[in-house]
Amino acid sequence: MTRICFVCLGNICRSPMAEFIMKDLVKKEGLEKEFLIESRATCNDEIGNDMHPGTKKMLDKHNILYNRHYATRLLKSDYDKYDYFIGMDNYNVLAMKKLFGTSDKVYKLLDFTKNNKEIDDPWYSHNFDVTYEEIFNGCKELFNTLKNN
Ligand code: 4NP
Repeated sequence: MTRICFVCLGNICRSPMAEFIMKDLVKKEGLEKEFLIESRATCNDEIGNDMHPGTKKMLDKHNILYNRHYATRLLKSDYDKYDYFIGMDNYNVLAMKKLFGTSDKVYKLLDFTKNNKEIDDPWYSHNFDVTYEEIFNGCKELFNTLKNN
C-alpha cells in the first residue's frame, strides 16, 4: 500500500484536484487497493469547506468523479500516516519541512516531471484550465514513478 497526501495552502483548489485526478488514474488501472490518496491544507482559512467551484468544474469537464470534500489541516501527527507528501509549490514544501522538522517524504508535484516548476494557485490566477493540465501531467508522472518502484 502506497499512501499519498497532496498538500496545498487552502485544500480547496489544487490538492483536492490532484487527489481526485490521482484516484481516477489509479482506478482506471484497477489499483485502488494499492493506494491511499488524500489531501490536506497548510493553513486554517478554508477548514471544513468544500472544493472551489472552479476545481469542481474542471473535474466535471474531464469526467473525473469526486465526493463532498472537507478541507482539512495537515498536522505534525500525519507524518507517520503517509509515504509521500506532495506539495504544489515551494511554499507548501517549506511549510511541510518546518512542520515535520525533516524533508524526508516531502516532494513538489512537478519534481516528478521534466521541469520542476510550481503549480500556480488558481485562487489568485483564476486559470483553472492551466492548473488542471499541470496537475494532470504531474499526477501521470508521479503514478508512472510509483508503479515502476
Ligand atoms: P489552494 O488555493 O491552496 O490551491 O486550495 C487557495 C485557497 C484558499 C486560499 C488560498 C489559496 N485562501 O487564502 O483562503
